Amino acid sequence: MRIGVLTSGGDAPGMNAAIRAVVRCAIASGDQVFGVYDGYKGLIEGKIEELSRKDVSEILNKGGTILGTARLPEFKFEQVRMLAVKQLEKHDIDALICIGGDGTYTGALRLHEMGIKTIGIPGTIDNDIASSSRTIGFSTALNTACDAIDKLRDTSSSHQRCSIIEVMGRHCEDLALFSGICCGAEYVITPDTGLDKEKLLADLKKNRLAGRRHAIVVISENICDVHQLAKEVEEYSGYECRATVLGYVQRGGSPTPEDRLLAARLGKYAVDLLHEDITGVAVGIHHNKLINTPIEEALQMKYEPNKELHELVKKIS
Ligand code: F6P
Repeated sequence: MRIGVLTSGGDAPGMNAAIRAVVRCAIASGDQVFGVYDGYKGLIEGKIEELSRKDVSEILNKGGTILGTARLPEFKFEQVRMLAVKQLEKHDIDALICIGGDGTYTGALRLHEMGIKTIGIPGTIDNDIASSSRTIGFSTALNTACDAIDKLRDTSSSHQRCSIIEVMGRHCEDLALFSGICCGAEYVITPDTGLDKEKLLADLKKNRLAGRRHAIVVISENICDVHQLAKEVEEYSGYECRATVLGYVQRGGSPTPEDRLLAARLGKYAVDLLHEDITGVAVGIHHNKLINTPIEEALQMKYEPNKELHELVKKIS
């Protein structure tokens, strides 16, 4: 087979490990692999080159994606996707492995509907692909967030401050929820808990009056302006307060062993499925077993808030 591979959307640590696994597993089976540079944008521009085993050496431990990535909202237009189909035909590519999040999956689904064999691999720090209990990059981003929150706790405690820390995750709460638990945050605010500002301010005031030196508030992005919230906390609670937006630092860095292992397993599994002629699916992991789900279904699956972890936060914060 001649297999194309691309990364698209927000980059995630471990994407390189997935590319490496796809290339090496496919070549071991006698296939050829073609790297598509800069996601669907590069695909329509024909930025396609064959990858050898050697081309993917020394990348396993590197963050980012050697193929580059991009967001291409125009890919929703059929005439734009036709350019992609033409490029795939021109390069005689039989199937395309698309590594990324739900935008990437939507692109892969549309191509599949146009007769292209596609497979999706979940690569995003957000862990927001419900067809897989883990996405490649989440473990590393969680480590990065925890490292930063631990450091912020040190300085918050020294200065007797409240620290509000905004983490990424788009509309998924996992980065906030998991990092909040792992770092012993006093408050974890996510799209699923919502922000009850009055209660937060009142609780902080109570804690301050009770003599607690500092408070850590971990909050998901897209909930509120955290700098404004910090001002309100200062005004009402008695704590000095600083807000820190962790931002894109969460997308970089060397992938954790967990991300590397997941990426390697999913990369091989995607190649295996192509050999079985199973396409139009998204690969994933559930209870440590590799699974595949039709991409359309994967895109419709809803994230379920983790009740057990929410209860845990309430008790130990
Ligand atoms: O999907 C990964 C992610 O980092 C989200 O957590 C964040 O909301 C978004 O991408 C940022 O996207 P962009 O790179 O387009 O600014």
